[in-house]
Amino acid sequence: MKLRSMLFVPADSERKLAKALASPADALILDLEDAVAASRKAEARIAAAAFVTAQANQLSSKLFVRINPLDSGMAMEDLATVVVPGLAGIMLPKSNSAADVIRLGHCLDALEARTGMVPGSVVIVPVATETAAAMLNMQSFAGPVPRLAGMTWGAEDLSAAIGAISNREEEGSLSPLYTLANSLCLCAAAATGVAAIDTLYADFRDDAGLAASCRVSRRRGFRGRIAIHPDQVATINAAFSPSEAELTHARRIVEAFAAQPDAGTLSLDGVMLDKPHLTQALRTLSQNG
Ligand code: COA
Ligand code: MG
Repeated sequence: MKLRSMLFVPADSERKLAKALASPADALILDLEDAVAASRKAEARIAAAAFVTAQANQLSSKLFVRINPLDSGMAMEDLATVVVPGLAGIMLPKSNSAADVIRLGHCLDALEARTGMVPGSVVIVPVATETAAAMLNMQSFAGPVPRLAGMTWGAEDLSAAIGAISNREEEGSLSPLYTLANSLCLCAAAATGVAAIDTLYADFRDDAGLAASCRVSRRRGFRGRIAIHPDQVATINAAFSPSEAELTHARRIVEAFAAQPDAGTLSLDGVMLDKPHLTQALRTLSQNG
């Protein structure tokens, strides 16, 4: 599943839902959680389910819903309403560990059976670092987890959970706890064999800043990013797609190894290459298209 860009769309906004239809985002996340006021949760649920049903044929592989947290008292009603044919995945906020993902998976088992959907077809992307317990439990993602299709992290809810005044240092850089959350997301995603998806870039009018931030993020190993505004999507898609130069270089590495099948290590342009370079080159080529 390609998840370079995941655009959040508040599910209670008819206008934004309509606008999202034309977005080139790899996934739309119809939000029932933080972007929706408590008084509008019921309405948002129904609108999300109606949108998924209406777009099941056109957009089915890209429709996600962010439900309310498992311990919010709202998650079961969210799921009972939105798990309908056409739904590709659930984003799970404030997940506390892999056990929460597994528990959600069991609920999906039942709901897929009820609605005649393919068993196991609805994937899960947790926001894996939003609670203090989640940070302490990140080792629970050390191996494959059923239905997991990607993993993202967040700095806002974590700082609220900790009781921090800000998630940034006085001079503006992220505080250590949040760079740790970023790094643990990368490790956990790699350990479970899924894509790490970077958190949002809040200043949605600053396109150059977003592009620069995405370059940093991709160098670190993130495969995609959350978008909160439609204007961010093209920049994110471009930033997380390999450039022509990267593709050419990757092809040359693959060809060099193919030409010398018995060589564990070889040289290209005066640089030593071995297995990790081949792995990286194959990954770059798999991200194309
Ligand atoms: N999805 C779909 N459409 C969106 C959108 C989104 N996330 N954000 C904005 N739009 C639409 C607007 O409705 C507007 O459409 P219109 O021309 O038909 O009126 C157009 O894009 C331009 O929007 P703009 O005026 O630039 O922004 P805004 O002030 O209306 O909205 C936000 C700003 C931040 C409130 C809005 O982008 C938003 O709701 N983002 C998602 C927030 C969210 O889901 N947060 C939860 C995850 S952290
Ligand atoms: Mg939140």
